Amino acid sequence: MSSLPPCARLDGDGLTMVLDLRAGAAEPVYFGPTLPMAEDLASLCDVLRRGRHASQPDRPAPRSLLPFAGEGHLCAPSIVIQQHGRPLTPRMPLVAITQRDAGLCLEHRDDALSLSVQIELAIVHGGLVEFGTQLRNQGTQPIGLISLASLTLPLPSWASHMVRYAGRWSGEMQQQRLALHQGAITSASHGGRPGFDGGNWVRIEGDNVSELHGDALAAHLAWSGDHVLSVECTSDGDATLTMAARLEPGEIMLAPGDTFCAPRALVAVSAQGIASLRHAFHAHVLGAVVPDTAASTPRKVHLNSWEALAFDQSLEKLCALADRAAALGVERFVLDDGWFAGRRDDTTSLGDWVADSGIFPGGFDPLIDHVRGSGMDFGLWVEPEMVSPDSALYRAHPDWCLHLPDHPRLTQRNQLVLDLTRPEVSEHLFASLDRLLADHAIAYLKWDHNRDLFPLAGKGHAQVIALYALLDRLRAAHPQVEIETCASGGGRVDLEILERCSRFWASDNNDPIERLKINAGWFDVLPMRIAGNHVGPSPNPITGRQVAMDFRAKVAMFGHMGVEADPGAMSTQDRQCLAAHIALYKQWRDVLHSGRLWRLTPADAGVHALLAMHKGRGIALIAQTRQAATYDVPHIRFAGLDDDAHYRVALLPSYCEKARAQLSHARPFAEGVVLSGRALRLAGISLPLQYPETAWLVSVEVA
Ligand code: DGJ
Repeated sequence: MSSLPPCARLDGDGLTMVLDLRAGAAEPVYFGPTLPMAEDLASLCDVLRRGRHASQPDRPAPRSLLPFAGEGHLCAPSIVIQQHGRPLTPRMPLVAITQRDAGLCLEHRDDALSLSVQIELAIVHGGLVEFGTQLRNQGTQPIGLISLASLTLPLPSWASHMVRYAGRWSGEMQQQRLALHQGAITSASHGGRPGFDGGNWVRIEGDNVSELHGDALAAHLAWSGDHVLSVECTSDGDATLTMAARLEPGEIMLAPGDTFCAPRALVAVSAQGIASLRHAFHAHVLGAVVPDTAASTPRKVHLNSWEALAFDQSLEKLCALADRAAALGVERFVLDDGWFAGRRDDTTSLGDWVADSGIFPGGFDPLIDHVRGSGMDFGLWVEPEMVSPDSALYRAHPDWCLHLPDHPRLTQRNQLVLDLTRPEVSEHLFASLDRLLADHAIAYLKWDHNRDLFPLAGKGHAQVIALYALLDRLRAAHPQVEIETCASGGGRVDLEILERCSRFWASDNNDPIERLKINAGWFDVLPMRIAGNHVGPSPNPITGRQVAMDFRAKVAMFGHMGVEADPGAMSTQDRQCLAAHIALYKQWRDVLHSGRLWRLTPADAGVHALLAMHKGRGIALIAQTRQAATYDVPHIRFAGLDDDAHYRVALLPSYCEKARAQLSHARPFAEGVVLSGRALRLAGISLPLQYPETAWLVSVEVA
């Protein structure tokens, strides 16, 4: 006789999840805005239960959070295990459910195999549901784990589309909206990291969803290694979202008594469009993920040496660059790749983390003193997980890289990956980085990772765990140092690494036209406060495009602003324009970084319009990336305002020269007009948006 209640509910932060437990499994039958506490859950479960049909097991398989093989499911099981090389078929009914503070703990057990799976559901900061899944081997024999889903979510019946991300180096997080169809839509990474295509993020949408209307949910797998994501639709008409760390067979052996913790998965749900999902994830990231200083202190303007000097470094050139940076109003000078022992191009020296004596005859400190003397703090690029075959480290320890005996050691960007699972390797890396940070006034590390992991050698999972341990140890020893996660741009961005990092490098592509698209993907899930966004050179080294400084600078303001170009190579006019935008960013960064972000146009409309609104003050970027089909384009209508309040709306100088001539009423726009929130929402404003590379900044302040 089961002691389970017939139903359970999880409530908090404006949402409710109802679980039907009557089939001895946890079946989510409702997930959405809060239902009344007095709701008759049993009746709700009755009316939501699907009817029977002919081609079905006599006891239909429950649509549960833990489908297992052998029940007659038409979708993939949550857990795949083996013993002594043979498949095991666990039977894992739900045996207990316990209420915890803001959550539920669901205990599933297979007594015959002495296995248990615990799924903890908790409503966490921002109103996300966090799923934590653990498999415990309570038997006397080892178990081989092939896969354990972090999330198996039977999707609500409104789910009709998914937005997943595609991408490549310098083109991360490109949104793809696909209709769900019978069969599976799957994405996976195999490079030992999430990858440029952000397959660890997904959005599920109902029909006609928009910024402010409609049903949608967003999910994320908080894991910095490989993943598998699938949305599987069966012939019954059910759709299930599954997210898991991708493991190699044999990689995880659970000895008797061992527990495997799957990476956390996070889900936000909304009946009011996409904006609510964005706000939930942003609030969660700032309130519960990134280090406190990242969430609470002003984000300093960076100048990064990479696009300005690359490997062509000398103390003299670096000091001159620092002077030019300080003159622009930059607050942190970041010395990128090329500073360490013998590194003159990308073929050597990774692993030898000492200042190159040719570039720095007196060590680092003369440069650091110079930078700090100009009022900036100093940041340094490192790529600790890598080793160049041509390096002192590799010559001393050729067996320290991930490799398979008898396999060639294949390089990517001329480098190999260190095996962090070897304690002596992690110890060595800690000691090298600890020494750098202890000996020098370094405020920030840009932690890069420029190749895929291959061969994984059955260590992909353990490598990620060892990386977290290294970062944790370093942060504990140097809590004041901020770390940026970079993997040739945005190749490794997830909420687990962001617990240890204050910033992510969104892309190597600083072409603002491309960046607006890349950022559109990132900003749907991560706040602008932590998204590195730099003004690059023109022509852009990746796309070859020449883009006016006014446009480059305005786009870079919407993020954690920086400069990645040599101010010495800019015209005086461009330098003045850039300095003015840096000043504007400082004036508005509290709004940009603490406010709610609203999208005022669809991301692919050719006009990217974003509004950050904080405590009655707002700043909007309205940026046009391609020529409009007609001279007059739809008005920009605002979101995120109080209908009953009145706002002064003004254009912030400087204006794009070409478009200025076409502004119909330049005076009221410059001086500001006062309009109701209702008028701004329903009628909006009209701006000349005819030319590619026209960008406007609009301030919106309670009058
Ligand atoms: C890749 C990064 O994304 C770039 O910003 C730069 O740091 C280079 N690596 C340096 O090698």
